[in-house]
This record gives sequence, C-alpha cells and structure tokens, in this order.
Amino acid sequence: MSKATETGRNPKLAILILAAGKGKRMKSDIPKVLHEICGFALVGYVLEAVEPLRGQVRVIVGNGASEVERAVGSECLCVLQAEQRGTGHAVMVGLEGLDPGVDEVLVLAGDAPLVTAATLESMVEARREAGAAASMMTATIEDPRSYGRIVRREGGAVEAIVEEADATAEQRGICEVNSCTYVFEREALERGLEALTTNNAQGEYYLTDVVKGFASVGAPVVTVAGTAEEVLGVNDREQLALACSIMRRRISSRLMAEGVSIVDPSNTYIDHGVSVASGTVVMPMVFITGESSIGENCTIGPCTSINDTSVADDCSIQFSTVDGCEIMSGANVGPFSRLRPGCRLGPESKAGSFVEMKKTNVGRGSKVPHLSYMGDTTIGEGANVGAGSITCNYDGVNKFPTTIGDGAFIGSDTMLVAPVNIGKDSVTGAGSVITSDVPDGSLGIERTEQKIIPDYGKRRKKGNKDKGK
Ligand code: UD1
Ligand code: CA
Repeated sequence: MSKATETGRNPKLAILILAAGKGKRMKSDIPKVLHEICGFALVGYVLEAVEPLRGQVRVIVGNGASEVERAVGSECLCVLQAEQRGTGHAVMVGLEGLDPGVDEVLVLAGDAPLVTAATLESMVEARREAGAAASMMTATIEDPRSYGRIVRREGGAVEAIVEEADATAEQRGICEVNSCTYVFEREALERGLEALTTNNAQGEYYLTDVVKGFASVGAPVVTVAGTAEEVLGVNDREQLALACSIMRRRISSRLMAEGVSIVDPSNTYIDHGVSVASGTVVMPMVFITGESSIGENCTIGPCTSINDTSVADDCSIQFSTVDGCEIMSGANVGPFSRLRPGCRLGPESKAGSFVEMKKTNVGRGSKVPHLSYMGDTTIGEGANVGAGSITCNYDGVNKFPTTIGDGAFIGSDTMLVAPVNIGKDSVTGAGSVITSDVPDGSLGIERTEQKIIPDYGKRRKKGNKDKGK
C-alpha cells in the first residue's frame, strides 16, 4: 500500500475512510475491504486515491479490525467503530478527537476502489468554490440497484438520498446514484450528524440523511459527476470480479501508454504491484503477480505465470511458471519450464523445455536445455547440463546440495546423487549415476561395458516366427 508519511500534510483536511462494515454479501471470513483485486486490497486503492490530497487520513475499522489495522495501520490512523450502526455512525466515531484545526472532511467508502484522485480533487474544489456545506459524487448508471438514489427538486437541487430499502417504487426508477464520497464543511457535518436518527428500514444512522438535513434547511450541496466505474461499490463477489476486470484494464492501459505491448489485454493478468519496462511484449494468457518486475525488451508468454520474480532486460519466458526467482538479462526460459522459489538464472543462461528447478543458481551462459530437474544446485558459468539429467537431492528425509563447476559438461541422463561436486571443465558420461565428486578437468563415468551379440536381429525374428506357429 501507499507509503504515506505525516510530513507535509494539510492540517485542515481530514479524510475518513469507512471500512468497519462486515460485508455480509461477500459471504467471507475476510473483512470486505481486505478482499483483493489485481493482488491489492480494496481499501489500499482508496488510500492511494486520497494520497495526493495530503489530508490527515483516518480509517474507521470494526469487523476484522485487527486485520485491517495490520494491513493499513502503519500508514494512517485507525479508529475503532466497535459496533457498526451505519455510515453516519461511522463518521461520528471518525470525528472523535479530531484536531480542532480541521475544517473540511472528505468521507469515502473503503469498498469503492475505483475512485480517482482527480475526481476527489474536483470535489474539494467544487465545494470551496460554491461555499457549500457539502459536495458529493454521483453518477448516472444503467442498473442503480443497491445504491442510494439521488432525489432532486424541481430546478435540480438535491433534496435527499434515499436508500434502496427505503425507496418508493418511483424513487427506485431513479438512475442517479450516491457513491458515498463526500466533502463536508466540518461544522455543518457535525451539526448534521447530531440530527440523525435510526428511523429507517435498516435501523441505522445513515450518512445520507445528513445531506437531506442540509437540503431541508437550505444549506447548499453541490454534486460532481463521477463515472459508473468510480461509484462501483464492492458488496458481493460479482462486483468484486467486475471491479477487478476494470482495474486490470486500467493497469494494462497504463503499461501500454508506457511502451509495453500487450497483445490481448483482456487475456492478460498483471497485478497492481508489478512493473514492466518499455519494449517488452506480453503475449496472451500471462499472469504477472505479486512483487514482480519485468525489464525492457522481454517477451513474456504466451501461457506463462510469473510471481514474486524479477526479470531483467532481453529475457524470453514462454509457457512456463516462475515463482520467487531472479532472472537476469538475456536469459531464456521454456517452453514448459517450472522454476520454483529460490532460483537465480544468470545472464544469457537457459532453462529450456520441460525443466524444473528449485533453489538453483545457474551461472552466466550456462544451459539446462531439456527435460531436467535441478534442485539445491549451484551451476558455474558456461556449463551445459545434458537432456534428462537429474540432481537426486532428496533421500526421503534430508536435502543435499550439488555443485557443477564452470565449463562442466554433464552428459545426458546423468543422475547426480547429492551431495556431490562436479569440478571445473569436468565431464560426466551419458547415463552415469554419479555418487562421488568428479575433480576438475576429469571424466566421471559409471556404466557397465557394452556387449555386442552378432546376428541377434536375425535370431530374434526367427524366434518370433516360430512362436507364432
Ligand atoms: C452506501 C450508501 C449508499 C451508496 C453506497 C455506495 C448509506 C446509508 N448508504 O450504501 O447511499 O449508494 O454506499 O456504495 O450511506 N461502514 C462502516 N460502518 C458502518 C457501516 C458501514 O464503516 O456502521 C462502511 C462499510 O465498511 C463500507 C462503507 O461504509 O465500506 C459503505 O457501507 P455499506 O454497508 O457497503 O453501504 P451501502 O449499502 O453500499
Ligand atoms: Ca457498499
């Protein structure tokens, strides 16, 4: 999540992020605001969006308070709303002990991750310009179900926000909805909250009724038009998937603007925390997740997943899974490789087709081109591991290391029974089971001598014919 510090903040602006609700409709043990889209918590996106406003941020926590606090607490103050009595109540709790110097309060829902800093800034500006008690973001959307509807008077002034549960059939037909994003003049907000009651369908203190209160005494409220995306509140799994697809598109668009080619953005899954440098081509069905970074001019995919991995410039990774690794410049992976945590592929090295590696360091220019397993292995520079070679690193109880020196040549189908060291410029004979160290510059070979049985082919054919009689 964003790294906020308390220095250089606007002491007059408080930002309250409402994040105490249970999120019943998610049917989940995880607090709703910690559900992730593109690998990042919903509330994390809200924190990022408010960051440029430099206000004093307070997150109102309740359900799963300690988990939410752990996720965001180092960056902002968390205030506990022990009992969730509605959005109005959450704001009352959020204002407790607030610095007297604060004169403006931005309120947002922690479950609406698509709000943008630009809209928030224009809301602050709109309220100040109009000298209004509040500004609020609304949007006109096709399917207004589950949102509060904006009821306007003749002439257009906002009269009230009516929740779905309290709305008349006619009000339910209104498509302009409330996003739960407001900028309030502090004193007006405090007065408005004092007047709230729980006299409604859900028996809660509705923050929306503060706006109705303003309208009833003629205090001006201005609205700022947001987009359908920005108002999207995540209340259930369907909305979570929708928010995720929108965020994914935003991430792809940003990367493409920065010079990354994404062949099919709708089939590319790049997480929030990932960086990809220009000139790289991302083919379809690619997943780049966690803390990953991809350098310049790489080709990633098709059909590849990369997690918590740094990939340097000029690499190619196809039809492979790579997790917790470091891939250095010019390295090639795949097709059909599986690189497990703790691998480091040196510059210009290769993990080729049907190769599995775990905790293995491959030196500059070394190649493991086909059908191999390398575990707990250190390979020097310029070495070649022949097809079908395996490090036998596990005896059923413990794991043991293998080292392969610079320039070594491991013959095809070598079993390297660890712990074992193959010296610099050494060779192993194809098909050998190597159980003891091979010194520098030597050949290690372990095979029975080949026998030749003359005329065997003819005799075999005759024997088969006789059997058939
Ligand atoms: C709310 C608005 C609705 C708006 C919608 C936009 C009210 C009464 N309704 O409805 O007009 O269209 O958001 O998404 O304000 N929360 C707390 N403490 C509480 C209750 C809620 O912190 O006691 C938090 C929730 O964690 C959530 C946010 O406030 O992040 C909104 O609450 P939610 O219950 O999702 O409200 P909606 O029914 O979506
Ligand atoms: Ca909601």
